[in-house]
Amino acid sequence: MNVLVTGGCGFIGSNLVRHLLARRPGWRVVNLDRLTYAGNGENLADLEGHRAYRFVQGDIRNGELVADLLKTERIDAVMHLAAESHVDRSILTPAVFVETNVAGTQVLLEAARARGVSRFLHVSTDEVYGSLGPTGRFTEETPLAPSSPYSASKAASDLLALAYAHTFGLPIVVTRCSNNYGPYQFPEKLIPLMIANALRDLPLPVYGDGKNVRDWIHVEDHCAGLVAALERGTPGHVYNLGAATEKANVDVVHAILELVGKPQTLVQYVKDRPGHDRRYAIEPAKAKRDLGWTATRSFDEALAATVAWYRENRGWWERIISGEYLRYYEKQYGAR
Ligand code: NAD
Ligand code: DAU
Repeated sequence: MNVLVTGGCGFIGSNLVRHLLARRPGWRVVNLDRLTYAGNGENLADLEGHRAYRFVQGDIRNGELVADLLKTERIDAVMHLAAESHVDRSILTPAVFVETNVAGTQVLLEAARARGVSRFLHVSTDEVYGSLGPTGRFTEETPLAPSSPYSASKAASDLLALAYAHTFGLPIVVTRCSNNYGPYQFPEKLIPLMIANALRDLPLPVYGDGKNVRDWIHVEDHCAGLVAALERGTPGHVYNLGAATEKANVDVVHAILELVGKPQTLVQYVKDRPGHDRRYAIEPAKAKRDLGWTATRSFDEALAATVAWYRENRGWWERIISGEYLRYYEKQYGAR
């Protein structure tokens, strides 16, 4: 099978490309990535020359390029991850979120329709459901109520994907996953940012009262869920993916400081994120029942392994924390 992965140089994408090459040896993987600030060729540099892998630098909004790639690589299935993914950036610069996440997805859907692919996996997020109160979980029937420009753009792309299934019979499967962590995550996201700051004795900026709750899943568990959805999902269906691991942000930050061996006094409460969703919690029962998938990693062990990875791969994130990222960090945290 020939698979197109979009956004394969990002955090989840690069873990997914490795996962596919290791676990589906008969597949050929083509990775289309524009290499934005979040895309890093270094993540997969060691795969250069791999007989079942090809990297193409390009934009999903380029319809001609995408159509040509689907044809020349005889693509059977698409796993669509390319996106602008960071909520805080969507508050600073919303337009590019609409351009890539909405318009880019539509270009890809159209090319996949023309090509007649056998599967199109649209990788989405639990954030499309908005925020929960203190109880309950998101099911696939929870109404969409996105809060940020990022989550609104993802909700729009989900609806476009489902419309292409309904109207054109494109074999779309949509997954909605909770917060990922693990190796190769860009250090603007909570867990890698806090690890990198703790390792350098810098303040750990916790938004608001730190009691917002996220539901954490290790990226390898997510990748296994994406393969299960691609292979066993029913076209037109949505599957929630999550590991039932709810944590308040401040508890995650305390655990990181403990693992790094730095004092809790590094925690610094800063101004809250505008429109900050209070709580996410995924109900993954449908994926378990219909895909036979369930997350297997424990948060404590996988967080310790993640901290160890950032310790051992300091060069990787130190090279990232320069240039554009320094300007973003100043804009995001300078006035808080
Ligand atoms: P990321 O920001 O680390 O990577 C995104 C990748 O997409 C980058 O490599 C970037 O270069 C590429 N890209 C961006 N715009 C592009 C364009 N126009 N054309 C081609 N490539 C482009 O993101 P991530 O955290 O790996 O998330 C991947 C996907 O999973 C996203 O769709 C996101 O919404 C979804 N998701 C993420 C999480 C999470 O916790 N990180 C959870 C659920 C769902
Ligand atoms: O739920 C899935 C989503 O998880 C994905 O769709 C997004 O792509 C991904 O970025 C993530 O979104 P969040 O906004 O939940 O992740 P982030 O790591 O930015 O923040 C996690 C929590 O930590 C959130 O409540 C905000 C808080 N936070 C974040 C940062 C960066 C802080 O308190 N301080 C910070 O500096």
